[in-house]
Amino acid sequence: MRIDVVSIFPEYLAALDLSLIGKARLQGLLELSVEDLRRYTTDRHRTVDDTPYGGGAGMVMKPEPWALALEDVLERGAAAPGPAAPGAGTPPGERPVLVVPSPAGEVFTQAVARELAEREHLVFACGRYEGIDERVVDWARERFEVRPMSLGDYVLNGGEVAVLAMVEAIGRLVPGVIGNPESLVEESHSDGLLEYPVYTKPALWRDRPVPEVLLSGHHGRIARWRRDLQLRRTAARRPDLVAALDPAALDRADRAV
Ligand code: ADE
Repeated sequence: MRIDVVSIFPEYLAALDLSLIGKARLQGLLELSVEDLRRYTTDRHRTVDDTPYGGGAGMVMKPEPWALALEDVLERGAAAPGPAAPGAGTPPGERPVLVVPSPAGEVFTQAVARELAEREHLVFACGRYEGIDERVVDWARERFEVRPMSLGDYVLNGGEVAVLAMVEAIGRLVPGVIGNPESLVEESHSDGLLEYPVYTKPALWRDRPVPEVLLSGHHGRIARWRRDLQLRRTAARRPDLVAALDPAALDRADRAV
């Protein structure tokens, strides 16, 4: 998978050198590059923003540097051999995805992460200030599959932090990035529920014992206990997720919880 990020604060993305994502880059599983939007300005002051037409507070990102940056990213993506299939690049007919982080976007969920993890080329456009001139998004629709994407119902100062979260969520689903793929199976949101609580040694810590069932060695009872806790925890913390569950995915014991 190839990932390009365009930002006026490329240093923000330095965290992507670390941990599992950093390792996946070294292994060639992810090819990630970060471009400074100011490199694509043409004036002496390297201006990326201007006042909004129609008035109002704040500044809007100018369209010209964005178009030049995205064209450059497209050209390099077309020329680059895709790591999964040497010599292939973006598969013919598959347009790269342009993710535009914005509080006005579609909510980024595990389902979206799974969908984007299947794509060959993702481009992230980090807006700042009041956002990017909307014509960039319209123009980009002719070249990319455009996905305005929100992390949740709150406002960040720009797209960079959202990109860190999304690249981590997507990157860990790329085959080979997580050493033990089984750890992806029982985590929160893999089956529409929150994950069960976990414990490790010692069995007694500050007068608090580990739930006895986990020491029983009885796999069936442990699985039932975990499932019950998933259901109860999800009902308490995220009733919206319980309402969205497919009733066919619940067994009789689930319904009794
Ligand atoms: N940029 C500003 N706020 C955001 C949010 N909630 N999600 C994604 N990008 C953002």
